[in-house]
Amino acid sequence: MFNLYKSPPAMLHITLRQLKVFEAVATLTSYSRAAEQLHLSQPAVSMQIKQLEETIGLPLFDQIGKKIYLTEAGQELQRYSNHILQQLNEAESVFAEMKGLRQGKLLITVATTASYFMPQLLGEFNRRFPGITISLDVANRETLLQRLARNETDVAIMGRPPADLGLEAVSFMENPLVVIAPPHHPLAQSHAIPLARLQQETFLVREQGSGTRIAMERFFSEKGIRLSKGSEMSTNEAIKQAVQAGMGLGILSLNTVTLELETNRLVVLDAEAFPILRHWYVVHREGKRLSTVAQAFKSFLLEYLPPQQRA
Ligand code: PGA
Repeated sequence: MFNLYKSPPAMLHITLRQLKVFEAVATLTSYSRAAEQLHLSQPAVSMQIKQLEETIGLPLFDQIGKKIYLTEAGQELQRYSNHILQQLNEAESVFAEMKGLRQGKLLITVATTASYFMPQLLGEFNRRFPGITISLDVANRETLLQRLARNETDVAIMGRPPADLGLEAVSFMENPLVVIAPPHHPLAQSHAIPLARLQQETFLVREQGSGTRIAMERFFSEKGIRLSKGSEMSTNEAIKQAVQAGMGLGILSLNTVTLELETNRLVVLDAEAFPILRHWYVVHREGKRLSTVAQAFKSFLLEYLPPQQRA
């Protein structure tokens, strides 16, 4: 009688260990060499193959003289076992990556100015990969380039690096430089202030080697304007305080003055040809093998920011 309630077909009870043994014998076409490679005795290898043949119900190898050959069933099994073992390898490397991202360390050096927004981005990165230890070092552009040259950092965040230093740089965010003044400054309410008018003002400047300073000097020399430079200060904070105290105007990254603009302690002057549009780059040595963590951080920077803030 026709049986509607057939039991499901029995699963093949093949173990991964048997497959690995089979794979070795099939590739080396030798029981003894497979045994050597797997650090097993030859009878142990023969036993595994015998059990495998019994489970499948077909011979897997033919022996002709001293040589062994794969039977048709053996060739079929080789195709499947290749596939299965490859998948297993892939799974293993995925887990290794995950472990890396769970415990890794990220060494990052950021330009002085980038320290104003990097902690927020690092906070988000840290929420995604909580096990990662982050070591953040702040330096000006010149020091940062030396660190990259000495391979002392995984990645650096800075303005565009020089093209001839063997560095790989990808921009990920805009960095507008603006003219800042105290709110009571006579130019605070003016519009489209001509650059020539700025010549009558004193500018507080960042130290030599600062990216902000280099960009500012290049901008004015391209426009043929000679600025009168006042005090030189090595932090953006000092410049902001000095501008508030009426010591002069400043040219700083908009990223550094968000709080002062919100609380009306500083204003941005509406000057001709401003802002100077720069970009932030994630940088490392050309050809450097980035750790899993550094690679993840780089991808995060390139993907995280909303499109309007990206470079
Ligand atoms: P900073 O800026 O060196 O003036 O802090 C970094 C840059 O713009 O490269």
